[in-house]
Amino acid sequence: MGICAAIKLILEGSILSGGRRLKIHPITMLERKIKELLKDVDVDGHGLTHALRVRKLARKLAEDEEIDVEVVEAAALLHDLARALRLEGDHAEVSAELAHQLLEEVGFPEAKMNKVIEAIKGHRYTANMAPRSLEAAVLKDADMLDALGAIGVLRAIAFGATRGRSLYHFEDPFAEKRELDDDKYTLDHFYTKLLKLKKAMKTKRGRKEAERRTRFLKAFLKELKTEIED
Ligand SMILES: [Fe+2]
Ligand SMILES: [Fe+2]
Repeated sequence: MGICAAIKLILEGSILSGGRRLKIHPITMLERKIKELLKDVDVDGHGLTHALRVRKLARKLAEDEEIDVEVVEAAALLHDLARALRLEGDHAEVSAELAHQLLEEVGFPEAKMNKVIEAIKGHRYTANMAPRSLEAAVLKDADMLDALGAIGVLRAIAFGATRGRSLYHFEDPFAEKRELDDDKYTLDHFYTKLLKLKKAMKTKRGRKEAERRTRFLKAFLKELKTEIED
């Protein structure tokens, strides 16, 4: 699907009643729209349930911060839209473009819109940009937390499968005598990225939860090593 088709879909999904838009809270409307747009999209770990989990995590992280929760919730719901819809281009940029359209559509306060867009543009782990606001930092932390713990394992496997990666190198699963290559092996992704995420966390609560979830990943890897090698 191209970006124009996606925008058309968004506009067609307007919640109308008797020709007039219902007065519903913008975040509630956004949630409905995301559920409508992505109801059957949850294949590679960046679809509907990811958006809903990241929103929940972001709300929890926001409890400790002087922060605009609405901005964080909107950004969380929309941050991976382009990825979920498999649109071409830099997914953070394209998601931000779609987000702009959707935020206008639900009547999100204009004064806060830029903060949402900025947070979405900067959320990519690989972008390596320092977050420009506390809201952007919370989105980034919430997004990284969803790559850790039990859900992180599930998502890594799903993502690897959709990219055609093997589960692990059949002779050297834990890369003891070879270079890591997570383009080829899902297990390598734990070492190239997932185990490093806790160091990249920006919020105190995020760091604490990342440590807990990383402990789970390490226990999972230990058990896996036993099962594969013993
Ligand atoms: Fe993303
Ligand atoms: Fe994400």
